[in-house]
Amino acid sequence: EFRFKTASGDWKWILSTGKIVEWDDQGRPLRMLGTHTDITELKTASLEISRLLAESQRRLERIETLRAIDVAISSNYDLKQTLDVILKETITHLQVDAAAVLLYHEEEQIFKHADSLGFQTDYIQKTRENQEGVVAAQHDKWGEVVDLALVEPTGFDPLFVRMMQEENFQQYYAISLTSKGKLIGALELFIRQPFEVDDEWRNFFKTLAGQAGVAIENAQLVNGLQIANLELLQAYDATIAGWSMAMDFRDKETEGHTQRVTEMTLALARLLGMPEDQMEHIRRGALLHDIGKMGIPDAILLKPGLLTDEERAIMQTHPKMAYDMLKSIEFLRPALEIPHLHHEKWDGTGYPYGLKGEEIPLPARLFAVIDVFDALTSDRPYRPAWPKEKTLAYLQEQSGKHFDPEVVKQFLSII
Ligand code: C2E
Ligand code: SIN
Ligand code: SIN
Ligand code: FE
Ligand code: FE
Repeated sequence: EFRFKTASGDWKWILSTGKIVEWDDQGRPLRMLGTHTDITELKTASLEISRLLAESQRRLERIETLRAIDVAISSNYDLKQTLDVILKETITHLQVDAAAVLLYHEEEQIFKHADSLGFQTDYIQKTRENQEGVVAAQHDKWGEVVDLALVEPTGFDPLFVRMMQEENFQQYYAISLTSKGKLIGALELFIRQPFEVDDEWRNFFKTLAGQAGVAIENAQLVNGLQIANLELLQAYDATIAGWSMAMDFRDKETEGHTQRVTEMTLALARLLGMPEDQMEHIRRGALLHDIGKMGIPDAILLKPGLLTDEERAIMQTHPKMAYDMLKSIEFLRPALEIPHLHHEKWDGTGYPYGLKGEEIPLPARLFAVIDVFDALTSDRPYRPAWPKEKTLAYLQEQSGKHFDPEVVKQFLSII
């Protein structure tokens, strides 16, 4: 197959077949017979097919790139992960040597380097540390591909110029990143081996920037929510700590009780192999275990002597009261078992429900042992502290009656 230029200047593709039919004395060919077929149309079609194949391959790769960014959007990646995906995909599929994402800081109205890939020096961080204006972000150029070669080079940051030289960058393109009409930042591309960018490349760059803007805004929202969430958690925990301190203040004799039982409960829970992700709930539950006593009048709570039946009945509403107080706080729902059920007994004679054995959740069963241990070894308005030996003997004696025998055994092994 070969092609030649016709007199009219068009190219024609020819398929030629031939056979030598006459030789000279030395065996050199003298004459051949054969055919020439004009295969121009066929050839054009197959060239078109391979062009189309290459093009659809390229499109596919670009769709995959956009897909990777979509995944970053929907997976709630954090900002760093999102920027990494954008830079990696940009470099691979726009075939550039280096790329940088700048983020726009609205309050200060400046751009700052957020992430970059493919640079051999650190000029990019320096030159984009506090950049007031980047060309791509000028309002009339939002969403357009800006080619540095077409920009008046007045007022370029000298560091930027030095970077272009030292990194041997021949071409620079940039585009603003926006989301819902808001400026988010800019994406900058640097090329060492110049190549001619076509419309398809530009369009892809624009599409990619559109997706990147959304992905970054999304990641910023996620980061913001995570911070707000953390602050909320800390505020809740501070509130709980405040409540439990208020409890201990009111009932002076129990001062330190809450803190001690909380620490012992966590230690025992770990010893019993309870999952780590339950520890926060157990901790909060222990801190709040007697929060229901807030509703008990001083005359009963601080009474120096034994309670009458009526007073005891009121006293025994404290677990249910804790439950009613806390149940509407979603955040404390998983922590309620201890405040609600710490006076249930293994043999079913406890309150408020008379639950029996393993009907009582494990956190409440192990808390009960520790609560009684600490109550008995402390002074109470109604009796002085018991010695430790007497207390341990009492726990042993109540094993299988008040307490889960397995829990008593483990508790005695660490006390
Ligand atoms: P608390 O003082 O924190 O006691 C918690 C639990 O430890 C008690 O739950 C009980 O199981 C055990 N405990 C505490 N002191 C003794 C004791 O001297 N002997 C024995 N055998 N066990 C003891 P309980 O009985 O359900 O009491 C719940 C709360 O009711 C107590 O919390 C305390 O605030 C109050 N209370 C109980 N009995 C009296 C009393 O006779 N006088 C007064 N003023 N308050 C009492
Ligand atoms: C060629 O095969 O290169 C020329 C065509 C011919 O032999 O006529
Ligand atoms: C707060 O608790 O929300 C603020 C600080 C304080 O008053 O303790
Ligand atoms: Fe209690
Ligand atoms: Fe207690």
